[in-house]
Amino acid sequence: MSNIDLGASKVIDEKRQGEAMQVETRVPLNGKKLFLESYGCAMNFSDSEVVASILSQEGYSTTRDELEADIILLNTCSIRENAEQKVRMRLNDFKNRKKRQPGLIVGVLGCMAERLKQNLLEEEKLVDIVAGPDSYRDLPNLIVEVESGHKAVNVLLSRDETYADISPVRLDEKGVSSFVSITRGCDNMCSFCVVPFTRGRERSRDPKTIVEECTTLFNNGYREITLLGQNVDSYRWNMTSKGEIKDQNLPTTNFAELLEMVALIHPLLRIRFSTSHPKDMTDEVLETMAKYSNIANHIHLPVQSGNNEMLYRMNRGYTREWFLERVGAIRRILPNCTISTDIITGFCGETDEEHQDTISIMQEARFDFAYMYMYSERPKTLAERKFKDDVPEEIKKARLTEVINLQQKNSLKAHKEFVGQTQEVLIEGFSRRSEEHQVGRNQNNIKVVFPKTDLPINSYVQVKIKDCTSATLIGEVVTL
Ligand code: SAH
Ligand code: SF4
Ligand code: F3S
Repeated sequence: MSNIDLGASKVIDEKRQGEAMQVETRVPLNGKKLFLESYGCAMNFSDSEVVASILSQEGYSTTRDELEADIILLNTCSIRENAEQKVRMRLNDFKNRKKRQPGLIVGVLGCMAERLKQNLLEEEKLVDIVAGPDSYRDLPNLIVEVESGHKAVNVLLSRDETYADISPVRLDEKGVSSFVSITRGCDNMCSFCVVPFTRGRERSRDPKTIVEECTTLFNNGYREITLLGQNVDSYRWNMTSKGEIKDQNLPTTNFAELLEMVALIHPLLRIRFSTSHPKDMTDEVLETMAKYSNIANHIHLPVQSGNNEMLYRMNRGYTREWFLERVGAIRRILPNCTISTDIITGFCGETDEEHQDTISIMQEARFDFAYMYMYSERPKTLAERKFKDDVPEEIKKARLTEVINLQQKNSLKAHKEFVGQTQEVLIEGFSRRSEEHQVGRNQNNIKVVFPKTDLPINSYVQVKIKDCTSATLIGEVVTL
């Protein structure tokens, strides 16, 4: 495994990775303790809050100390081989524990559960429960089955499960920022990607329940919400994928309209969303962003590659020219918007020349930030069936290093443009390095560090930016 591969999880995940989570219970406790650990994308963290909610209704309380747990659930990711590797290592940790505590229940949830199904029980003999992303309502039954001496599996994928009626138990401690899922699954079939196999068909959640959940969060003190979907631009309520209305008596909602509904909850609620898909992102969405100052000025728009042949083989549904036109639309409609992206190096058949097209699109699009990965072949995907994973590991790695180095320079350049500007920052807490500094994010999703104030987390402050690194802006609070 490479030590320069940025790995399985996005930065947003890494800060939480490995954390056990505390849950408030609302029904009489059953005396049993749950330890829940999440890997992978924001969707998994959001799902863990649904799982915590379902099990808290059964009387489970959660613990941050895995040693006192009666049940350990790992919510897993399959996106790259090393993501699965991490979970296997973690399961290994539990082996001796299980010998000492035979009643301990170990369950695997999420994408790895869905991908490996029954095999996971055979491969990792200590696993008792395997539950795919659409089967969490069944967890109480699966636990009962295990308690009566059996192994329990439910990996059925659903066409309509969105957990819309479940009020997630918030697992973060700060209470500033939260994820809210708006779609589940993905219909895109990018050839490298395992998600359509692990998450099933795309479905949108009832906008009413989304607005209700966001309103509750705001009323509970949260000030930032990230609407989540593998492709938020394909959110559609009461419409088929072809745009036909399903029920003539009910209103339809597209993503731009949903954004507006959420933005209208309160001007102090900052709205983010992820992930935008270059083939589907409309000007209507950009115009809605321009209309509401509480919709953050940041778009995550994964390019994957800058070469048309590669994009075609990746089945991404757009060309380099189309992507750059969409970037142009963002710059035109939202001049202060930052753009981040995802890049894969060494996808099947990628030549040096094709890789150089990725370098050049990075220069042309001027991404402010990027998540960068070496291609990792995933079983059953279109790419695994149709193409050879023929770019040698060393070349994948060298290309990744080149991409990372360039992005670091570009991020620094982009951040320098903020020096001298005053930015609105939502305070998230203290800096990890010093209790003398507070930290938050500006609208553009850039971390801002500043000498501490008397203001609590959840407050907005104006910070004049004095300095920067490729990862952070540094400034001082000003009163306007
Ligand atoms: N739905 C999002 C991406 C979800 S996965 C989108 O369409 O953009 C997050 C990122 O992981 C992807 O954008 C891609 O860059 C990367 N990724 C997915 N499959 C991969 C694979 N097999 N190898 C390496 N990186 C991969
Ligand atoms: Fe995977 Fe493509 Fe769907 Fe994103 S849009 S989850 S990369 S198949
Ligand atoms: Fe991983 Fe599944 Fe998310 S594969 S990236 S946890 S959708």
